[in-house]
Amino acid sequence: MMQRSTRYQTQLNTKGTGMSMFSASLPGGTWTLGDLTVTRFGYGAMQLAGPGVMGPPADRDGSLAVLREVLDLGIAHIDTSNAYGPRVTNQLIREALHPYPESLHIVTKVGSTRDSRGGWPPAREPENLRRSVSENLENLGLEVLDLVNLRLGNAQGPQPGSLAEPFETLVELQRRGLIRHLGVSNATAEQVAEAQAIAPIVCVQNMYNLAYRQDDELIDMLAEVGIAYVPFFPLGGFSPLQSSALSTVAARLDATPMSVALAWLLQRSPNILLIPGTSSAEHLRENVAGAALSLSGDELAELDKIGR
Ligand SMILES: NC(=O)c1ccc[n+]([C@@H]2O[C@H](COP(=O)([O-])OP(=O)(O)OC[C@H]3O[C@@H](n4cnc5c(N)ncnc54)[C@H](OP(=O)(O)O)[C@@H]3O)[C@@H](O)[C@H]2O)c1
Repeated sequence: MMQRSTRYQTQLNTKGTGMSMFSASLPGGTWTLGDLTVTRFGYGAMQLAGPGVMGPPADRDGSLAVLREVLDLGIAHIDTSNAYGPRVTNQLIREALHPYPESLHIVTKVGSTRDSRGGWPPAREPENLRRSVSENLENLGLEVLDLVNLRLGNAQGPQPGSLAEPFETLVELQRRGLIRHLGVSNATAEQVAEAQAIAPIVCVQNMYNLAYRQDDELIDMLAEVGIAYVPFFPLGGFSPLQSSALSTVAARLDATPMSVALAWLLQRSPNILLIPGTSSAEHLRENVAGAALSLSGDELAELDKIGR
């Protein structure tokens, strides 16, 4: 049974924020995914699993504490997948946060699985997708998933080809009431258009950051039609972003390169939602504070040159 709680509302109110459960004062404010209001500053939970996103974390209590900190900071959007661990991340989320507050929206993805060597082989056949949705529901302790992204392509990135069969399978699960909203991930612009022609999508989750700008046109096109763009690897992923121009701007602002990279994304387009990953509560707090940096026109122009 999906349960919701007001536990964190009380916590936030007793801390004197006066906000309802999520915090609209987080950097970037809020965005609406279909009928769900989320903070533009979200949290990517992939880093909570063990090394190589396999198995349990070395510091289990630390991982649970990061998730509780997510809510304490007023973040209302967590990105996860049953493939993280596998199952580990979803189970940690459930243990730390269930029953979930009404304002929290957990976004998951289906379409790839894990092999014994830690690889991410595609699993987009209808029976695999149905099983994956059911396992996400079970491990997260939900009756309905707020948003499910269909993960396409492979570890090398998006690959061309029709998404009709797997996407229609998710549409069928949505009609059965198991999924509220749909999105696509690791997708080409053509696949985004194909999905839109089949059923409404509320987000696209692709790789994008200050140094990797493949989707500039797609972001602007999605902004025009009110669809969110959620960059994965916003901080560079497994190899942190490194750029002398980024370090120069950061030093001038007395900020970290991570802070500048997140602030740049929020200022890049209003439809960009952040899901930076971390296994550290301290880094999480630093990222929230850092994303609030206001970058001037000159700084934005300087940073813009990095990925172009
Ligand atoms: N759709 C897809 O195919 C796909 C693919 C990959 C990821 N994702 C999603 O996107 C989310 C974000 O991606 P990601 O977590 O892989 O990469 P990321 O957010 O670009 O970077 C995470 C890395 O940055 C480090 N970090 C974070 N904050 C830091 C700080 N303040 N100072 C120093 N280091 C810091 C983390 O280490 P610490 O743990 O030490 O902080 C971690 O190693 C994931 O969590 C996942 O939910 C989706």
